[in-house]
Amino acid sequence: MKANDRLIIAIDQPGLAGVMRTANAMREFAATVKIGSTAFNTSGPMVVQALAKLNLRVFLDLKLFDIPEQVAGAVRAMTRLGVFMMTVHTLGGPEMMAAAKKAAREEAERQGVTVPLIVGVTILTSLDDTWLTRIGLAGTGKTVPLLAAAAREAGLDGVVCSALECASVKTACGDDFLTVVPGIRPSGSGRDDQKRVATPRFARSQGADFLVVGRPITAAADPKQAATAILQDMDLKEKT
Ligand code: C5P
Repeated sequence: MKANDRLIIAIDQPGLAGVMRTANAMREFAATVKIGSTAFNTSGPMVVQALAKLNLRVFLDLKLFDIPEQVAGAVRAMTRLGVFMMTVHTLGGPEMMAAAKKAAREEAERQGVTVPLIVGVTILTSLDDTWLTRIGLAGTGKTVPLLAAAAREAGLDGVVCSALECASVKTACGDDFLTVVPGIRPSGSGRDDQKRVATPRFARSQGADFLVVGRPITAAADPKQAATAILQDMDLKEKT
């Protein structure tokens, strides 16, 4: 897979016009854009259809966390929109994750579209072990591979995790189980609200399949130059 196919640009801004401007400017750098709660709750489902018209794959990251019936309903709706990838929380449990994948398969067949990828959110990259320990859980090093194994058993296609856990997820779940990695920060850049961060090169060297990058590109003084540098850094993985 080329670096462009692995890079997912997170467009976290309100308003359809702004999202489309960013997507149009960045589409030569990434095959996929990620739309989350900020853009979706201001622009609605039409943002997905507008992006598809630009030939972009859409990762609709609404991080579903509800009972199986509700999650299945939301997954059916997102499948009808033609999204490429979507997220549910692994902490929603095995029945919920299995219901999500089943709903995606059935609805895709009904509509004659490709079955969307469903990846499970493990532990947000804005968290570290301080929070997990406070609520009586083991640290991310133990918890993330356990959640990933449960996601795989339930039939999900992969998980969202930090670069620091990619290798242990691959060991627990196999190489074909996708790792989608946010918290990417080029060396020398700020962390913003992210805690478990890594450079593009490090993430790739750990086996990250997709890298999700938002502010290091969208808030850069020169977003095109920032995207180019990230793509180049991803390709340096073999040399580390
Ligand atoms: O701007 P930044 O590069 O930090 O954006 C990261 C994106 O990845 C955000 O859209 C955020 O919602 C998402 N994300 C994350 N951590 C997760 C799952 C998704 O940061 N565990």
